[in-house]
Amino acid sequence: MGRSYRIAVVPGDGTGPEVIREGLKVLAAVSQRAGFEVETIPYDLGGDRYLKTGETLPDRVLEELKTVSAIYLGAIGHPEVKPGILERGILLRLRFELDQYINLRPVKLYPGVWTPLKDKTPEQIDFVVVRENTEGLYVGIGGNFKKGTPEEIAFQVDVNSRKGVERCVRYAYELTKDRDSGKKKLTLCAKTNVLTHAHDLWMRVFEEVGKGYPDVSQDYSHVDALVMWMVKSPEVFEVIVTNNMFGDIITDLGAMIQGGLGIAAGGNINPAGVSMFEPIGGSSPKYAGKNVINPLAAIGALGMMLDHLRERGAAGMIEEAVKQVTSTKLKSLAAGKMGYSTSEVGDLVVEALGALSPVAG
Ligand code: IPM
Ligand code: MN
Repeated sequence: MGRSYRIAVVPGDGTGPEVIREGLKVLAAVSQRAGFEVETIPYDLGGDRYLKTGETLPDRVLEELKTVSAIYLGAIGHPEVKPGILERGILLRLRFELDQYINLRPVKLYPGVWTPLKDKTPEQIDFVVVRENTEGLYVGIGGNFKKGTPEEIAFQVDVNSRKGVERCVRYAYELTKDRDSGKKKLTLCAKTNVLTHAHDLWMRVFEEVGKGYPDVSQDYSHVDALVMWMVKSPEVFEVIVTNNMFGDIITDLGAMIQGGLGIAAGGNINPAGVSMFEPIGGSSPKYAGKNVINPLAAIGALGMMLDHLRERGAAGMIEEAVKQVTSTKLKSLAAGKMGYSTSEVGDLVVEALGALSPVAG
């Protein structure tokens, strides 16, 4: 039997549906070229459904999502829904329930793309952030005492389990070990000088697990220093491993130095379960329905999904096609400034794919 996959598609809110539509065009083209079958199963999770029915992620949908090969997500976030409801009820719930304990964020400058970092080239901006994705400040443990009074106290608990830290750090070592580059360098990003309990755990785990990876060189940076280096000398990084909150922040900086949210893709990974891939830019309501948003981040997320499904040939073809489009076609990666519409950019990628010689799967 040939290779075949069942992909749950959650276009979601705002510009999500527009960018996912382009991603699905590319998926149809690349699956044909690479010789695998895909069945796509649409889900209408998101703000509109919540406003109509009050449901975020019904249990029966969650159960179905546990059975697919992967999830392809557009964006979650709606201007008429109070912040937190959809994020916690859909996005974070999926990450937690499906135990997608890694948030993988490549920071890669594609050829022809403008970066705000003066004189930096694609060779110098090419690293990956491994963000812990199921613990830390994101677990939602906490509360308010004497709410609304001048004596109010608010707690938000930062959870760091040995198991959670270890599996994340181990994933990062494995990824670093398998990189093609000569560097094989893994940087732990934490704040051991202040968070002397939680980040002492991270440091001990980092050193202990590292003993099993003699070929990977270990590096450490406090988060505040690390963001300076990301701007001044991004070439010093190859793989960065960090906690959920720091990872959230530094990957938005990463998106900016790689040319913006128009190209930034990410994966929520459970290596033994169902993973979910998304453009990290959010729902951009002000651009929704205008056919001006950049779909390359969603197309990049599709590439990551296929790589994860071990369709390496197809993933490589997408990467190559995107490079061709950024280097020879787009004027800018910003919404409305690309020189093409959203659907035209999707077409350009499909066209570039068609001109590539197929790579073995
Ligand atoms: C991201 C997003 C989410 C996060 C939000 C929408 C909850 O910013 O994927 O980085 O903070 O993880
Ligand atoms: Mn974020």
